[in-house]
Amino acid sequence: MKMLIFGGAGFIGSSFAQSLLSEGHEVEVFDSMYTGKAANLSACTEKKGFKLIKGDMRKIEEVKRVVTGQDIIYHFVANADIRGGMENTFLDLEHNLLTTYNLLEAMRKSDVKKLVFTSSSAVYGEPSVFPTPESYGPLRPTSLYGASKLAAEGYISAFCENFGMKSFIFRPVNILGSANNHGVVGDFIRKLKRDAKGLEILGNGKQRKSCLHVSDFISGVKVAVGSGKEATNIYNIGNLDWVDVDGIANQVARAMELKGVKYSHTGGERGWPGDMPFVFLDTKKLCACGWQPKLNSGQAVFLAAKEMLRAFDIEDKHKEHY
Ligand SMILES: NC(=O)c1ccc[n+]([C@@H]2O[C@H](COP(=O)([O-])OP(=O)(O)OC[C@H]3O[C@@H](n4cnc5c(N)ncnc54)[C@H](O)[C@@H]3O)[C@@H](O)[C@H]2O)c1
Repeated sequence: MKMLIFGGAGFIGSSFAQSLLSEGHEVEVFDSMYTGKAANLSACTEKKGFKLIKGDMRKIEEVKRVVTGQDIIYHFVANADIRGGMENTFLDLEHNLLTTYNLLEAMRKSDVKKLVFTSSSAVYGEPSVFPTPESYGPLRPTSLYGASKLAAEGYISAFCENFGMKSFIFRPVNILGSANNHGVVGDFIRKLKRDAKGLEILGNGKQRKSCLHVSDFISGVKVAVGSGKEATNIYNIGNLDWVDVDGIANQVARAMELKGVKYSHTGGERGWPGDMPFVFLDTKKLCACGWQPKLNSGQAVFLAAKEMLRAFDIEDKHKEHY
């Protein structure tokens, strides 16, 4: 099949590109390289059927040029910096919502029917039910990132309803893996590489986060895309457990083989405005399709920390070489 991945040079998109190519699909990646990196695609570039297109999804003409003839479109483009989006309030609107509208309109004009979209658990804001099911409401996001994802879900649903398209919307928890250059695990590794004795943790360290390794995320998306029967299919995707932020720090220190690291906390239930103190999603709907994560939250953190450390070493060697 012909597949196009918007945001395919980013963390999740590049992992997906590798996986789809290994199954023999033709894969085109469209990315502005805003946070994406060519190095994330080094395992793809020599493979038959792979193409990288540099472009900006905020420009509808560029999007229209690439969607025609695609069997499935994956939309992984986003401003993934939630905190940054609270400082520059236009970021989430343009990278998360405008990009989605441009894609839907381009698909409508080119008669392309199938879309996979990564929304976020941030659409739930601070829910009162745990694990939180897809049917939870009213949805009141607490970050502009979450708000833009919820708005994008609404546009996708309305386009699918009116123009005969089919969509698969995923609401992921924290996804972890080697190419993840943002988020708590990479942040802790960078800080501990600078100072292996002490670690500053944002918030009180008790924020509870369900974490999923990217390999489990990919298998979950594939299972759902093979099962969903509605015009718009919405799935939570996360782990069956969670780990608190101090626990994440413990796993990172263990992966770095550090002992006796002293933690200091900036305090408060949230690490920053818009941070969610507890993220734990009900994944019964996805599990009923035959999916189960292979790694629990703690194991996902540990494996991702090991993978990121290897990736950081390769980057450092590359810098020394040039
Ligand atoms: N990583 C997670 O834990 C997580 C959790 C929930 C949801 N998500 C969602 O999954 C998707 C992928 O996340 P990720 O962690 O791989 O992020 P990422 O930042 O690594 O990837 C996003 C990619 O989009 C590209 N991009 C951004 N703006 C663009 C534009 N205007 N035009 C073209 N390309 C553009 C970036 O260059 C980057 O390669 C995002 O939609 C994100 O919101 C991620």
